[in-house]
Amino acid sequence: MAKIEFRSVSKAFPVKDRDGGAFTALDGIDLDIAAGEFLVVVGPSGCGKSTLLDLLAGLTRPTSGEILLDGAPVTRPGPDRGIVFQQYALLPWRTALGNVEFGLEATGVPRRERAGRAREFLDLVGLAGFEDRHPHELSGGMRQRVAIARSLAYDPDVLLMDEPFAALDAQTRESLQDELRRIWQRTGKTVVFITHGIEEAVYLGERVAVLTSRPGRVKEVVPVRLGPRESGAHGEDVRSSPEFARYRHDIWTLLHDEVARARRLEKEEAAA
Ligand SMILES: Nc1ncnc2c1ncn2[C@@H]1O[C@H](COP(=O)(O)OP(=O)(O)OP(=O)(O)O)[C@@H](O)[C@H]1O
Ligand SMILES: [Mg+2]
Repeated sequence: MAKIEFRSVSKAFPVKDRDGGAFTALDGIDLDIAAGEFLVVVGPSGCGKSTLLDLLAGLTRPTSGEILLDGAPVTRPGPDRGIVFQQYALLPWRTALGNVEFGLEATGVPRRERAGRAREFLDLVGLAGFEDRHPHELSGGMRQRVAIARSLAYDPDVLLMDEPFAALDAQTRESLQDELRRIWQRTGKTVVFITHGIEEAVYLGERVAVLTSRPGRVKEVVPVRLGPRESGAHGEDVRSSPEFARYRHDIWTLLHDEVARARRLEKEEAAA
């Protein structure tokens, strides 16, 4: 049985300026995600990636179809799913440490264990020494790292990540990509990761789902057979291998076609 199943999932939002009108963001998504899989989702801006993650998180409900988690329909958020939002969602009145501890409180980790665990995960994302800073005293990338530490600390089965590394510099991004791959391998978590970065998608994913431009449908799911991503014995980077370049090109082509289609649609609508 798949860990996560999308069965003909559609999501429409009501449109305010049209009587009873609706805007279809996702249309007939069918997708199975195995337990312990690392699935990356890419697609043109506005195609419904964040909507897909919100549905899986249980923050919104599908208009039709259903999403099953361990065979049961998703109806609400739960501690079995950790979410890193596209926009950092930290509590402004709490310190970095306090924000990570917050997730632990919600999942019932005993008080005396919380601070230690929270420190450990802040350290993991490279924020040792920043425990006592409040969000407004941290850069955007640091805030995002606090959010990542918070979602990892309470050890959910499923990690849902919406462009979590987009605001980071290249070095930090690459080291967090490696860290996330290590955590994934060590813990066997199921990861659903959204990104705009084709390179990031190929580097992280065991499979990459490419969505169409709106309404979002699954255009193709590309299995990435690259094996371990760590640098080899001679320090060679998998990113510079010919296989990597081929996957990057394939996904680029799929995406490029979609972006071109979206532009065409926009032009037609503007002319109508
Ligand atoms: N609550 C809402 N009400 C109305 N429309 C919405 C709502 N949320 C999203 N949409 C619309 O649904 C579509 C998909 O939005 P979504 O945020 O899922 O896209 P995305 O693929 O995550 O885009 P990006 O790559 O820019 O983050 C967009 O056209 C958006 O305007
Ligand atoms: Mg989004």
